[in-house]
Amino acid sequence: MSKKQIKQTTMFGTYAFPSYEEIMDAYAKEFENYILPKGDTIFGFWMQTLADLEFLDLELQGLTDEYTIDPVNRVVNLKGDEDLIRLRIAHLEKVKGKTTLYTELVDKFGDTNAYAFHNLYPYKGKFYPRVVRTLINAFKLSQNSLLLDPFNGSGTATHEASLMGIKSVGVDITPMGIVLSELKNDLLFIDEQKLDFSLNELQNILQAIENKKWEHSDPVIHKLMLAVYFDTIDAFVRTSRYNRKGKAGLFIEKLNYIKDCHKKTMEIKEKYGLKFEPARIIEGDILELKNMNEMEGKFDACITSPPYYFSIDYVGKDKIAYDYLGADMKKIESKYLGMKNNGKPKSIYRGLPPRVAMYYDDLKEAIKNIFWALKSGGKLAIIIGDSTVSGKKIPTTMATKKFCEEAGFEFEKLTFNPLLGARNRAIRGESVIICKKL
Ligand SMILES: C[S@@+](CC[C@H](N)C(=O)[O-])C[C@H]1O[C@@H](n2cnc3c(N)ncnc32)[C@H](O)[C@@H]1O
Repeated sequence: MSKKQIKQTTMFGTYAFPSYEEIMDAYAKEFENYILPKGDTIFGFWMQTLADLEFLDLELQGLTDEYTIDPVNRVVNLKGDEDLIRLRIAHLEKVKGKTTLYTELVDKFGDTNAYAFHNLYPYKGKFYPRVVRTLINAFKLSQNSLLLDPFNGSGTATHEASLMGIKSVGVDITPMGIVLSELKNDLLFIDEQKLDFSLNELQNILQAIENKKWEHSDPVIHKLMLAVYFDTIDAFVRTSRYNRKGKAGLFIEKLNYIKDCHKKTMEIKEKYGLKFEPARIIEGDILELKNMNEMEGKFDACITSPPYYFSIDYVGKDKIAYDYLGADMKKIESKYLGMKNNGKPKSIYRGLPPRVAMYYDDLKEAIKNIFWALKSGGKLAIIIGDSTVSGKKIPTTMATKKFCEEAGFEFEKLTFNPLLGARNRAIRGESVIICKKL
């Protein structure tokens, strides 16, 4: 370097290479600025991706009169009914200095998704409750609205609606999904004492279930014990981690967890004066929805996630439960989206195998039925992902968007929500497709 050249200072304000202490000090300041937003209306720590930013934007559109988002400082400026926003928003930690209800749920349950009874059972392909909450807010649903999930699975959409005091209807083809959605409903209204069992009683219950002699006069307790049992057995099949605890130990632990969820949920209900709304759960086939005349033009919104093209064996996953209940799995599977028509697709989709075409035929029909069930002006959010079969990508996301438009929906928005930590190309994330019935 020539003598005339001016030496530039580093970001640390020194000419020489900084010391370890200087580096740590500078990073600590940056860290504090980034991690601890400064302001009275701040992002939740769970806001991590660009999709989260889009979800926040959607929620604010639905809940506020006016807002601006400052993503660098992780703060929001907003105008509107602050109490309502605090009770409903899913992406802010504080609104005008006061903690939001969602933050309280996250802190109390130690998780952004496993609050209330969302974590009752590891049903495959479950929604993130936070996304459901976001969409309910974006669609401006209120106590007078009615929400539909025709692929309700274990009832995430209906449970989240119940927690938010919104009426909903959930339909699913699998008996296991129905048991779980009903349980999530019932547990919100059960007396705490009903969940009290001595160790001895629990051991006897477990034995009765194992001997297929389990009966209980209260259908909620009957179903709850079975669900906890199926979960226990499933955990044993998947890993040897629980061998030391033993089946009885794990069964009791899982039941205590549910009791704890009940206690925490009731504490929050009391603290915020919440009014939960039970959902209506129906065992049925979305492709036969039109047989239920009373459903026509009834719903303000639909938030749903169809089964992904054969990426998940939803029914097989619950084989233990179906074996126990003596359910006919073949019959259930034959009603599954894409399993009708005995291998003869109605339409041809260029380059796609007939089985995918059959699945697309059914998906298209399901979307037409959703259109029929919505009021005009009603909103639809479909959460869907692409799968890969024998190295070939099955473009379900764009096909779904097309089917929505063909059914008469106006397309509004698509947000890609990446699966953080995805390590292979099969499933990298899901998309939320938002449409409106004109
Ligand atoms: C992606 S899962 C939905 C999971 C759900 N969102 C949850 O959080 O648990 C898809 C669901 O569609 C259901 N399903 C498949 N075919 C169906 C049909 N013809 N009618 C109604 N439900 C169906 C499956 O049983 C499965 O529960």
